[in-house]
Amino acid sequence: MIDLDVVVLTGAGISAESGVPTFRDAQTGLWARYDPQELATPEAFARDPKLVWQWYGWRRRLTAAAQPNSAHFGLAALEREVRAFTLLTQNVDDLHYRAGSVSVLELHGNIHRTRCSIEGVVVEGHDEDDAPPQCPACGGWLRPDVVWFGEMLDAWILGEAERRASECDVFISVGTSAQVYPAAALPQTAKRAGAALIEINIDDTALSSHADYVLREPATSGVAQLEGLLNTLGRRSG
Ligand code: OAD
Repeated sequence: MIDLDVVVLTGAGISAESGVPTFRDAQTGLWARYDPQELATPEAFARDPKLVWQWYGWRRRLTAAAQPNSAHFGLAALEREVRAFTLLTQNVDDLHYRAGSVSVLELHGNIHRTRCSIEGVVVEGHDEDDAPPQCPACGGWLRPDVVWFGEMLDAWILGEAERRASECDVFISVGTSAQVYPAAALPQTAKRAGAALIEINIDDTALSSHADYVLREPATSGVAQLEGLLNTLGRRSG
């Protein structure tokens, strides 16, 4: 047991090695001419619900066909190795759950759930049709239960994420460009409260210069080194 309270923030980069394109990667095939940042908005859904629904259908099929990789599995194992652990993810796939992580807060929702675009209630089960299904209660369009650009995060989830970030000993950012707020502020919150900051990313990000340890490598090999690094930090702090 490593005597540390650890919080991990993941982004699309952790699922890249599972074959799920990151948000800012070029889209492929049929969707190459669309900019995700223009599809993932309430305005796009209001204008063309069918187009947005079909795009999410494509992403749902991609993630359903993908398998968790050793970085997802490594974080699930780490959860059992440390005194306290919270996984904050910006990803809307379910690969962390499928890898066995338990203490997960999904900051941006999950594409495998739908909710009513009018009443907000989550509606279980839907057909994979070309057009969005309708809410059985009010007839409104169902939409993916994700946070779109310009929308607020769930207040409880964000509050919990901020609380855990401000209480942890070590904050680890894995595969996120750290550009989208408020998630991008969480590592700073942790750092200000005295946590050590570790970044795993193949590229430089806005966070890199603030990190105490930078593992400039893919998520799979970076996560594989975490236990050793945390053991060192645990001994130093304990
Ligand atoms: P991005 O697509 O912005 O960034 C992915 C990051 O992963 C980049 O910094 C890459 O360098 C890094 N990366 C790529 N492959 C990697 C690998 N194999 N190992 C490690 N790092 C790798 O994705 P996010 O940061 O997740 O929000 O984007 C944050 C949010 O922006 C998303 O949740 C989404 C989007 O707008 C909403 O939909 C609200």
